[in-house]
Amino acid sequence: MQVIHTIDELRTVLKPCIRQGKSIGLVPTMGALHDGHAALIKASVAECDVTVVSVYLNPIQFGKNEDLDKYPKRLEADAKLAESIGADFVFAPTNEEMYPEGDPLTLIRDESLESLYCGAYRPGHFRGVLTVVAKLFLITGANHAYFGEKDYQQVFIIERMVRDLNFDIQIHRVKIVRDSTGLALSSRNEYLSDLERSQALSISDGLRKAKEVFDKGEQRVAVLRDLVIKSILANRGQVQYVEVVNQKTLQKINGVLRPDDRFVILVAAFFGKTRLIDNMELN
Ligand code: PAJ
Repeated sequence: MQVIHTIDELRTVLKPCIRQGKSIGLVPTMGALHDGHAALIKASVAECDVTVVSVYLNPIQFGKNEDLDKYPKRLEADAKLAESIGADFVFAPTNEEMYPEGDPLTLIRDESLESLYCGAYRPGHFRGVLTVVAKLFLITGANHAYFGEKDYQQVFIIERMVRDLNFDIQIHRVKIVRDSTGLALSSRNEYLSDLERSQALSISDGLRKAKEVFDKGEQRVAVLRDLVIKSILANRGQVQYVEVVNQKTLQKINGVLRPDDRFVILVAAFFGKTRLIDNMELN
């Protein structure tokens, strides 16, 4: 496996693969890889001839007061993990390589969803994500790309961008990977103290309870939301949002769930200074 830092070099190694008709799978990440990322890499290795894992902490998707500076960085360990799973290339560009002229003037936006849920609390975030993801699609020429449902709104918005802009790439969704306690794996879990980590379980506990009552027939959104909110508040978490949304449109549902649609509960909450997100599909 090769670690590549420049766009030219990556294009040079991928060109022959593309010419030979090999399928290229891309797994975009910001590094500090864990078993959630590993699941994405595994899926790509299983389905594609060549797998490229990008490890790039994309500054333009972080707000001024967010955690860009303290985000964990460990390229060597990331490369080892990617190699052990069977990835062919790790693409780890510098900021100068990705944005040689400074902040890009051309940005991709989702006019509708960038201001909802995570987007409401992280202005500019999804613009930064879509722009870097589009760049990575164009740089690699990948035919397949893998994203986790942990970031439910993110994968939804990326799928829409691919349709809107006719990217010739197939997006694959990978289910959320949780640890044995139920906590959704995240590079940001490293910020949590032991106490905060145990309190943070209240997110997945609340989501599980909501799913249980939904499975027993509960259709009132307020009841489902309340279960999650109360679980988090009882464990000293601060709720940013808990919303029940339609899986197909990501539009918020109020009132009662109709049995012929599918829904997902989206959550963001703080434990101490750490912001965590999670979700649960109600199928
Ligand atoms: P990052 O947070 O590193 O996540 C990279 C990919 O791993 C995303 O698709 C995310 O949904 C997936 N992932 C993270 N934790 C997961 C888990 N517990 N289970 C399943 N998948 C999980 O998301 C980003 O980076 C960036 O926004 C990026 C798309 C790379 C653009 O910069």
